[in-house]
Amino acid sequence: ARKIIIDTDPGQDDALAILLALGSPELDVLGITTVAGNVPLALTEKNARKICELAGKPKTRVFAGANRPLVRDLVTAEHVHGRTGLDGPDLPAPQMPLQEKHAVDFIVESLMDHEEGDITLCPLGPLTNIALALNREPRIASRIREIVLMGGGFFEGGNVTPTAEFNIYVDPHAADVVLRSGVPIVMMPLDVTHKALTTRARIDAIRGLGTRVGEACAELLEFFERFDEEKYGTDGGPLHDPCVITYLLEPELFKGRLCNVTVETGSELTMGMTVVDWWQVTDRPKNALVMRDLDAHGFFTLLTERLARL
Ligand code: BDR
Ligand code: CA
Repeated sequence: ARKIIIDTDPGQDDALAILLALGSPELDVLGITTVAGNVPLALTEKNARKICELAGKPKTRVFAGANRPLVRDLVTAEHVHGRTGLDGPDLPAPQMPLQEKHAVDFIVESLMDHEEGDITLCPLGPLTNIALALNREPRIASRIREIVLMGGGFFEGGNVTPTAEFNIYVDPHAADVVLRSGVPIVMMPLDVTHKALTTRARIDAIRGLGTRVGEACAELLEFFERFDEEKYGTDGGPLHDPCVITYLLEPELFKGRLCNVTVETGSELTMGMTVVDWWQVTDRPKNALVMRDLDAHGFFTLLTERLARL
């Protein structure tokens, strides 16, 4: 099985991504590292444990990492995810322990202890922990198989400012470290995640599994989608973070292009904007495979099938 570390700030869509990974035998989740993002760290680490217990996988190791971005003040998104970050279902307080080790130490040690090219990092939130790990131990860069991340937006624009996507906006300095690291990167920007919409029929199919996980997921998604539906009149909400895990399982569901991506860290107006050289008008190095298209039907078929195994 492919070894992965999920770095996350749950978040309903993060929760679905974690469940998808835990329900997939092709993936070996070495650990889940948590970061401040959608809500503060004390909630994201607790939410990650709730999700592992919901999945029936309380042995999964969960670590707490950075409680604030590298340079900027923390910005959160309770208006999307609710006060707890995981509003919707009534999930019990977690019984499984939080690991004592700091998330950044776990990331560094795992990469140094495993064979080169063994571990894939899957960031689903602000990139603070990943940047801290790369800064602390630069030798990990050549040992990471690949970083598959949710973040950014280009033709689609931003979802927190006109030009910035939330994960990159919250810690643009960390994103800058990651994008310059030389590690192979696959990026799932809003351009692709906005195609993964939780329509009524798709949520009904998940609820129709008739399991506790199916019911909890339907409740998570119904809470999550109301933000986009009320504000933009869409049918469903965009299931951003599961795109990362889906790519590991069925990469052919996505289409994109290898190009240069740079992040704005100076301008207040465009802070956190991902500048994607889609048309190759510069000779800057191609540092990321940027996805733009998704087979949404294939995506939800896979997701539902994997949730059924939990
Ligand atoms: C990203 O921001 C968070 O609110 C979601 O969990 C996702 O990771 C989308 O911009
Ligand atoms: Ca997230």
